[in-house]
Amino acid sequence: MVAPGEDLAPDGIFLASNESVYGPGKVALEAIVSSASTVERYPDDGVGRLADAIGVRFGIDPETICCGFGSDDLLARLARGYLSAGDELIHSAHGYPKIPNYAYANDALPVSAVDRDFTADVDAILQCVTERTRIVMLANPDNPAGTYLSGGEVRRLHERLSPEILLVLDSAYAEYVSAPDYENPLALIKSSTNVVMTRTFSKVFGLAGLRVGWVCGPKEVIDTLKRIGITFPISAPALAACEAALEDRDHFERVVGENHRIREMFSDTLKSLGFEVIPSQTNFALVRFADADQAVCTHRSLEADGVYTRRFAGGEFSRCIRFTLGTEEEMRRCIAVLEKGCQPNG
Ligand SMILES: Cc1ncc(COP(=O)(O)O)c(C=O)c1O
Repeated sequence: MVAPGEDLAPDGIFLASNESVYGPGKVALEAIVSSASTVERYPDDGVGRLADAIGVRFGIDPETICCGFGSDDLLARLARGYLSAGDELIHSAHGYPKIPNYAYANDALPVSAVDRDFTADVDAILQCVTERTRIVMLANPDNPAGTYLSGGEVRRLHERLSPEILLVLDSAYAEYVSAPDYENPLALIKSSTNVVMTRTFSKVFGLAGLRVGWVCGPKEVIDTLKRIGITFPISAPALAACEAALEDRDHFERVVGENHRIREMFSDTLKSLGFEVIPSQTNFALVRFADADQAVCTHRSLEADGVYTRRFAGGEFSRCIRFTLGTEEEMRRCIAVLEKGCQPNG
């Protein structure tokens, strides 16, 4: 795997970290540049102002929103606020690999619930619940597999959890979902006391480098998260960019539409070539090979061609490669390498 600082092909394409290949829109970029004239000052209530803008865009009470330094910051804060030593956090076995770390960081125990072919399994999660369970944390849609739980399944899970257990729905890729039975968890958040959703500006809004995320949940939870956050987590350029990006509906629609088109093209083409593609609701696709050797060899062939994708070492993922969805030209280049077949010395 290519490490930072290693020589990369000059015309290399980077399809490893699920960033948006479309970047931010023009208006967000202009807003970043204009904000440079105020950077000698602390950002003026960045968290509150951004919560207002998010509230307007998504029809949410800003009092139920907290913004942070990427959704990573907010997931970590949720764990810090609600886990004590010896508590348990349940996650899905092939779910977002960062989740167990949020438990470890607080001397709590991550409990892995088996899944069904990379999709979270509500019954298996419920079987893991004990009196020490404090948090169930799921990415929906999930990463690295791109799979999702339907709204009905999320509600079934919630109904069977005691209200003392916090259900954290990491919705970093929500904007890319096209499945008709997926549900925005907002209604569930409004009607309960123990559900939160995290979102990010790193994916569809193309602002990963500015590090901005937000969480929506019950006011008491939001209050706790605000208390334990750093002062001024939202920088002035980040605030300006996010406010502009929220208003730029054209860019948003274009990114979602293109992603959808490329996702279908890439998946259908690979399937027609005999590859196994895990059905994705995100801006990436996981391809499963016959065995780990095949995946390692293909990953090397891709790198030799300047295509940098992500391979995971552990368990069932060891025979998979995750491709962030790029432009049509970039994905055609991936397809060409895959079509040529794995080159053992490539
Ligand atoms: C499922 C999931 N959650 C959270 C994050 C963190 O996103 P950020 O901290 O950039 O908001 C990522 C990043 O890739 C992710 O894949």
